[in-house]
Amino acid sequence: MRQSLVVGNWKMNGSIQSNQSLLDSLKQNIGSIQHAEMAVCPPFVYLQQARQLLENTVIGWGAQNISHQNPGAFTGELAATMLVDFGCKYVIVGHSERRNLYGESDERVAEKFAKAQSARLIPILCVGELLEEREAGEMENVVKRQLDAVINLQGVASLAKSVIAYEPVWAIGTGKTATPQQAQEVHAFIRGRIAEQDAGVAENLQILYGGSVKGSNAAELFTMPDIDGGLIGGASLKADEFLTICQAAR
Ligand code: PGA
Repeated sequence: MRQSLVVGNWKMNGSIQSNQSLLDSLKQNIGSIQHAEMAVCPPFVYLQQARQLLENTVIGWGAQNISHQNPGAFTGELAATMLVDFGCKYVIVGHSERRNLYGESDERVAEKFAKAQSARLIPILCVGELLEEREAGEMENVVKRQLDAVINLQGVASLAKSVIAYEPVWAIGTGKTATPQQAQEVHAFIRGRIAEQDAGVAENLQILYGGSVKGSNAAELFTMPDIDGGLIGGASLKADEFLTICQAAR
């Protein structure tokens, strides 16, 4: 049985004050979450605050990006080992905003995935197609290409210590969620593709859905057999919405 996981991706949002009240509310209500592991990914500068507030709770934390390099002369970058220093469990790699706004290639994302694992962080590898790619019937090819870049560099067994998030780019921040059937179809494709190489890894792999998940649509998404939770953007900034989503996990 795969454990459900719900991760909040705060993106470039938050302040010391708003983070405090959000995390306090999550902590106060954590008892209402029965079936999901929960984690939040605040901006780097708030990782220490997350650590202070979440240490010794069941809520994990992680970062939204890392460098593909070892520590050194890379102005403005953060190394995987630094995230470990701040108690991070997870790091998101290959989010579509990084791929599309900051030009991260599949190969670069795979290098970040490798760096995360070498520091014993759990990478949350985001994959997903643009609207025009879906309309051109390229959805499976895109997801396969993004996945293969990691498998080619690190081997299929490396996925055993990772999480995958399927996030159709057209559903991110748009209010347009994939239907449960659309999401399930891609999740099953991803699991099937990995199963061709290692059935055990595929069976145990947590595959999250992301893209306009809200309290009102989480339950129907999470009933799908290959959806193991969610990567939540906008709705993770509101404690009640995020808690409702976590409560919806199987
Ligand atoms: P959203 O973002 O929930 O605001 O659509 C999801 C994500 O980008 O991870």
